[in-house]
Amino acid sequence: MDPLFYKILHLIGLICIFSGLGAALASGEGRSHINRLVAILFGTGLLLSLVSGFGMVAKLKLGFPSWVIVKIVLWVAMAAMITVGKRTSLGPTKSLFIAIALGIVLALLGVYKAAII
Ligand code: HEM
Repeated sequence: MDPLFYKILHLIGLICIFSGLGAALASGEGRSHINRLVAILFGTGLLLSLVSGFGMVAKLKLGFPSWVIVKIVLWVAMAAMITVGKRTSLGPTKSLFIAIALGIVLALLGVYKAAII
């Protein structure tokens, strides 16, 4: 498969992650149908970003550099952000900003690769 195909999947995954996360953190209780849908959107985006990320690592023959390990750790943190926003005292607004900060670091790691680590 063309690495560009994985990159496009990666970007589609990111769109799903952030739209799902924003909607999940904005929606209140008692709207279980909507909540389930946006959680599925978020989860699908996470899965897409992970699979396509590993696809690029393999196709571009990047090996397993430290910036990829950092991306995987930050991906795990991103995966927890709906739970953090809904179930901890941090609350939805702070959690959303933390998720945006995580996304910026993840994007910079992807663009600059080893250059910033
Ligand atoms: C929510 C998590 C993630 C976000 C927000 C994110 C974001 C990005 C962005 C914005 C790019 C730049 C794309 C471009 O150049 O057009 C990128 C590239 C990349 N990402 Fe991610 N990423 C995430 C997770 C991952 C994971 C888990 C992996 C690896 C397992 C990964 C591997 C890569 C690789 C290898 C590239 C570079 C492709 C290239 O050489 O051009 N990413 N990422």
